[in-house]
Amino acid sequence: MTMDLTQKAAALRQALNYHGYLYHVLDAPQISDAEYDALLNELRRLEADHPELQAADSPTQRLGGWVADRFVKVRHPQPMLSLSNAFNPGELRAWRERTLRLLSPEVGQTLSYVVEPKIDGLTVVLHYDNGRFVLGATRGDGTEGEDITANLRTVRGLPLTIPLTGKQPAPARLVVRGEAYVNVADFQRFNEQSAAQEGRTYANPRNFAAGALRQLDSAISAQRPLRLWAYQVVVLEGAAPLSTQWDALTFLRDLGFPVISLGEHIRLFDDFEPLVDYVVAWEDQRQALPYETDGLVIKINQVALHEELGFVGKEPRWATAYKYPAHEVITRLLDIQVNVGRTGSINPFAVLEPAAVGGVMVRNATLHNADYVAELDLRIGDRVIIKRAGEVIPQVLRSLPELRDGSERVWTMPEKCPVCGEAIQRTAGEAAYHCVNSACPAQLVRGIEHFVSRGAMDIEGFGIRQAELFVQLGFITDLADIYYLHERRAELLGREGFGEKKVSNLLSAIEASKERPFSRLLNALGIHGVGAVGAETIASHFGGIEALLTATADDLSQISGVGPVLAASVVDWFSHAPNRRTIERLRAAGVRLAADAPALVGPQTFAGMTFVITGTLEGLSRDEAKALIEAQGGKVTDSMSKKTNYLLLGTNPGSKAAKAAGLGVPTISLDDLLRLLHA
Ligand code: IVH
Repeated sequence: MTMDLTQKAAALRQALNYHGYLYHVLDAPQISDAEYDALLNELRRLEADHPELQAADSPTQRLGGWVADRFVKVRHPQPMLSLSNAFNPGELRAWRERTLRLLSPEVGQTLSYVVEPKIDGLTVVLHYDNGRFVLGATRGDGTEGEDITANLRTVRGLPLTIPLTGKQPAPARLVVRGEAYVNVADFQRFNEQSAAQEGRTYANPRNFAAGALRQLDSAISAQRPLRLWAYQVVVLEGAAPLSTQWDALTFLRDLGFPVISLGEHIRLFDDFEPLVDYVVAWEDQRQALPYETDGLVIKINQVALHEELGFVGKEPRWATAYKYPAHEVITRLLDIQVNVGRTGSINPFAVLEPAAVGGVMVRNATLHNADYVAELDLRIGDRVIIKRAGEVIPQVLRSLPELRDGSERVWTMPEKCPVCGEAIQRTAGEAAYHCVNSACPAQLVRGIEHFVSRGAMDIEGFGIRQAELFVQLGFITDLADIYYLHERRAELLGREGFGEKKVSNLLSAIEASKERPFSRLLNALGIHGVGAVGAETIASHFGGIEALLTATADDLSQISGVGPVLAASVVDWFSHAPNRRTIERLRAAGVRLAADAPALVGPQTFAGMTFVITGTLEGLSRDEAKALIEAQGGKVTDSMSKKTNYLLLGTNPGSKAAKAAGLGVPTISLDDLLRLLHA
């Protein structure tokens, strides 16, 4: 029995690791998010019921849960060097000349260079023993970093086991250097949510990523959209040595690490002048990347020369960073206005005299909160320096008080909410001000915007514009009204921009959203502190709204990944009569309020797996066996490769049995298969 469960856990882990890789690294998922979640829940349940099956490298660890009281120091196997800089083509050519002087002319002739984006994130050092991720550290002072393994396990795309493809076997030991970072769009989404929920924003993706990596509670890291790019092999044992940086990148990619696309955003040059042209021209291209970069890294391709060239101080001679000037511009601060977030937080922003920064017109910039305005001593009418941080998010860096003429005005937080006119108050101990009116239409609009968004109920054709309109018309006064909009069909049809087709599409999108998994609804409700991951954790624990309505903070705190603050917030939300009314109205409208029936859970045991069948199966035709496997999400093919998960072996097998042994593909009997299915 235990053996069957062990196999089942292994099969689920393999499927999850593989689908995670398809999703996060190749960006080419083969199963839906709901199917992935169902597999993950199945594994979590299995591990919860059978603690002996738990493993540090299980994909369930991606949800975090480990809470450290401090970070332990880790010595790096080699110094984690930083980079020298070049700011113009002249300095770049000078770097090359310096390296050439240290090499013999013959060697100098054969040099090639790899040019990589310089990702604006944080160095992480990842250790793999026999294909398992066993340790991950920050860079620290370059000699010693901090053990942040639990947090790194939550990073999207970071392989927990290697290989994830059939292209390379796992080396006995591998240490990889990479950059943990956050995409600009993810950062902005998170910041908006954080501004609304906590009245707190982060200055840029890098600071945000740094904070996420150094959380003592890894469940918090898990909620931050951290990602990884791998770019350097630091230690390699038990595999053929890599002679070039290009080969190292290919090697990492083939093991399943996320590597920036070779040939596209990472280039190889044999000649230096074309490289210089590329580097100069690249400045305009970098904004097209979804993450922030502060330049390019130019590396000598031949690894043997790295050692030969050595380093000066903390900078290797074999590489340098080409940096672009930060785009900073002076403009005038015309006004400071505020907007209202989802939970009523009041967030100030700068209204600027339009200015072109790095080719983009900037009119507004966030000012985070009232403290930020005070710290910078910003006055309306001031000349200010603005910057597009990482060339994407406009920021006000500072004012220029020396240019004041006395007409500037000090700004104070308005006393009344610009939307509903009710009082604005500051919560003790928080940076944020709030509108006291929980029925403030601005909050409702933001709440609806979140409810219908992609990560929540995902209602196509419904966005902030529609939310504003429906609130203004009085069609929506509570989130549940979304599911009663069909009663307003006639009134809607009379309005400009709402033709028959548009209204029908919108109403059917609303209708379709009733079937979203319960965890999505839980996220959509906008409960303080409950994001997608927390909602998933809570939904899978309680199974549905009934148990949750009566849950105490204690019940909630029992769940791994749910801390006391979150628990209290959930209980508080459900204790309010209007919220309970919303739930009842959602129920009456037919919105799903229970976790998915385990339709995908047991039955999708083989999601993402490929089987080959050989020989005669006792009491079952091949087609029947094929149908069985396919019904569980698996695939049956005729040809075998390293990627085949199992060979289903009947009596009198053909040559495939030997081939499987050669490729290391495990074989299972029909009995094994049936046991796996019924485990
Ligand atoms: S190579 C000796 N490659 O830039 C190898 N670094 O200023 C030195 N960085 O601390 C690092 N992208 O955090 C390298 N493609 C890349 C990089 C990269 C970002 C960061 C890294 C390093 C800093 C040096």
